[in-house]
Amino acid sequence: MPPPRAGAVTVAFRSRDGHVIKCLSMELKGLILSGGEGTRLRPITHTRAKQLVPVANKPILFYGLEALREAGIEEIGIIVGDTEEEIREAVGDGSQWGVKVTYIRQEAPLGLAHAVLTAADFLGETPFVMYLGDNLIKEGIVGFVDEFRGKQVDALILLAHVAEPQRFGVARLDGDKVVGLVEKPKDPPSDLALVGAYMFRPVILEASRAIKPSWRNELEITDAIQHLIDEGYHVEAHVIRGWWKDTGHLEDLLEANCMVLEDLEPLCAGTVDEESRILGRVVVEEGAEVIRSTLRGPSMVGKGSRIVDSYVGPFTSIYYGVTVEGSELEHSIVMENSTIRNIPGRIEDSLIGKNVEIARSFDRPKTFRFMLGDNSRVGLI
Ligand code: DAU
Repeated sequence: MPPPRAGAVTVAFRSRDGHVIKCLSMELKGLILSGGEGTRLRPITHTRAKQLVPVANKPILFYGLEALREAGIEEIGIIVGDTEEEIREAVGDGSQWGVKVTYIRQEAPLGLAHAVLTAADFLGETPFVMYLGDNLIKEGIVGFVDEFRGKQVDALILLAHVAEPQRFGVARLDGDKVVGLVEKPKDPPSDLALVGAYMFRPVILEASRAIKPSWRNELEITDAIQHLIDEGYHVEAHVIRGWWKDTGHLEDLLEANCMVLEDLEPLCAGTVDEESRILGRVVVEEGAEVIRSTLRGPSMVGKGSRIVDSYVGPFTSIYYGVTVEGSELEHSIVMENSTIRNIPGRIEDSLIGKNVEIARSFDRPKTFRFMLGDNSRVGLI
């Protein structure tokens, strides 16, 4: 990991009539939102926080922690909901990233601005970066955070040009200045979507207190920022050109996996027998075994997984403890300790949860036998 960037931000404290009373130099804090329900990724999210689904064999949330650390942020609050225990177990005290993590329980997923209010005690008077725990931003947030450090704005939002703005919060700009924001509009005023990172001064807390829940019964951060604009506060935008993904949908998650795998550095720390072929950039992690199989990169085989008589890849991430035997798999993510055995067709575009078993049976009568969780999806040929 690159060394952290240091740098405080200057905060001016003003009297009621707007005069500066004192200026303090403060380190930025980080707030990662890792609550929510993940309804769009069911059934995976019945048993796993969506922020912990692995992309290129690393939980999505870890990319956010790395991005904050790289931007020099060492004190990080993580908003958690029902999946608190699992997130605590995965992240711990943050020392593996060299940061200090505080967990903040949100009673229910009542919106991004509600999450900010829940973190009021943690945030105090400090400016902060808010990062959505299910987002992946390729270029990181160093440039974004540095721009905020160098400016006297009340909020700086991150935007990207997108093809389907109606799926996101959308901004209207006048130069760099943000003049309007609307959440998931039917008729978008531009193609500039809010990407999941925001820089705020503490005045966002007041704005979050001032707004009412939206049609989806959430306190929307877009409404809180709009409130800042309406009250005459200074809100600017930073537009990114690189890719980013909100991994809330299956298709986006698989695409994020492809995009991260595109930059894969090949590595073989496991064993690959002589009858196997490795084509392109492939990672075989420690303790993984590849027997009489072909791995086509970019792809990853995680710790302790076994690939036998199979064809895996491209764009496939196999997490740890997985067995793939007599099967073909492409453009997919397989989570830990699952087994795929003797499948006659090629498995494609799939997200397979943990401890899943997909196996062909040669027993008679020849029937399909399923035990599928609620909201499962099966495509048969
Ligand atoms: O991904 C970018 C989009 O994220 C923005 O364009 C939208 O303006 C913004 O509202 C947000 O939209 P989503 O509908 O995708 O947000 P989602 O409900 O997926 O929540 C984002 C993250 O915040 C996710 O990690 C869950 C967490 N969360 C969400 C809510 C509603 C919380 O921790 N608490 C909450 O109350």
